[in-house]
Amino acid sequence: MQLLEAIVRLGSFTRAAEEMFLTQPTVSMQIKKLSDTVGMPLFLTAGRQVVPTDAGREVHAAVRTILRTLSDLETKLADLKGLKSGRLRLAVITTAKYFAPEILGAFCEKFPGIEVSLKITNRDRIIERMAAHEDDLYIFGEPKSAGMDVEATYLAPNPLVIVARNDHPLTQERRIPLERLAEENFLLRETGSGIRDSLVRRFQEKGLRPRVRMELGSNEAIKHAIVAGLGISALSLHSLNLDWGGGRLAMLDVEGFPVDRAWYLVHPKGRELSTLARTFLAFAIEQEPEIRATLNTTYQTLRADNQAILLPEEDGHPDPHPIHR
Ligand code: PGA
Repeated sequence: MQLLEAIVRLGSFTRAAEEMFLTQPTVSMQIKKLSDTVGMPLFLTAGRQVVPTDAGREVHAAVRTILRTLSDLETKLADLKGLKSGRLRLAVITTAKYFAPEILGAFCEKFPGIEVSLKITNRDRIIERMAAHEDDLYIFGEPKSAGMDVEATYLAPNPLVIVARNDHPLTQERRIPLERLAEENFLLRETGSGIRDSLVRRFQEKGLRPRVRMELGSNEAIKHAIVAGLGISALSLHSLNLDWGGGRLAMLDVEGFPVDRAWYLVHPKGRELSTLARTFLAFAIEQEPEIRATLNTTYQTLRADNQAILLPEEDGHPDPHPIHR
C-alpha cells in the first residue's frame, strides 16, 4: 500500500524504490502481485512518467484512507498507553535540522519509553508528506501558503541572510542594493526549496532575477561551494550555527536582509494530535528563548567578523502575521 502511494505521488517506480530503499524489480513485482489480485493493470506509462489507471486511482484512494486509519489507530492506542510509550513522527525542513535533534534529545530524556522518527527534507516535500498524513507534526515556514488548512504555532525565528566568502569585495560594502547583487554569481538550492522561493521572490519584487551559477541540493553543499569560490548564496542563519566554513563565510549587508522568516509547528486542521504530539508541541515552543539565543550568538560572531548588520532587537517573534501562538 505504501509503495502504491509513493508511485502515484512520485510518478515513477524508480523514485518510489529509492524512497523506500527497495530495488526496482521488488517494486515491479509487488505492483504486479497487487494488479493480479485486483485483476486489472494499476499503472500506465505516459512518456517518462507512470500514471494510475482508473482502477489504480480507485485503489490509491482506498489505500490513502486505510493508511490514515492505521495511523490514527496507532495514535489512539499510544494514547491509551499514556506517555510511557508510543511514536512521535516529526518532519522538518532542512534548516530545522540544526535544532530539531536537540529538542528531540531533551524530549526523549524526559520520556525515555517513546520512539521518535525525524524526517528532514525541503518545503515542497514536507507539504506533500503533510497532505498524505505521513507524520504527526511538521516544522516549516509560511504555513498559510501550504495549500491546505492547517493549525500552526509559532516556534522560532528563521532569518535568511546573504553569504559570501570572507574575501569577497562586497564584504566591505554597506547597504548593498539588490540590483548590485543581481550582478553576482548565485548558488541556488533545488526547485521545491523554501529558501530558493524566498530569495527568488525578493528579486522578482524588484523586477530582477538572480544570476544562477549552479543549483545544489543542500545547505551544506552551498556552504562548501561558497568557500570554493563558486558564488554567493542565501542561507538560513541556523545553517551557520555550528559551522561557518572555518571562518571563511561572511554575511553581506544587503538591503532588505536578513529576511524575517519564522518556523512554525504545523499539522493539518481537523487532525487530532496524539497526547504525545501535543506534549511535544508544548515542550518545543518552550525552547524558543534558547533557539533565539543560539541564533543571536551566531549573528554576533558573523557580524564581528565583517561588521555587518544587526538582527532586529525585538522580544517577540519577527512574523508580523502570527497565525496562532
Ligand atoms: P528549504 O527550507 O529546505 O525548503 O529551503 C528551509 C527554510 O525555509 O529555512
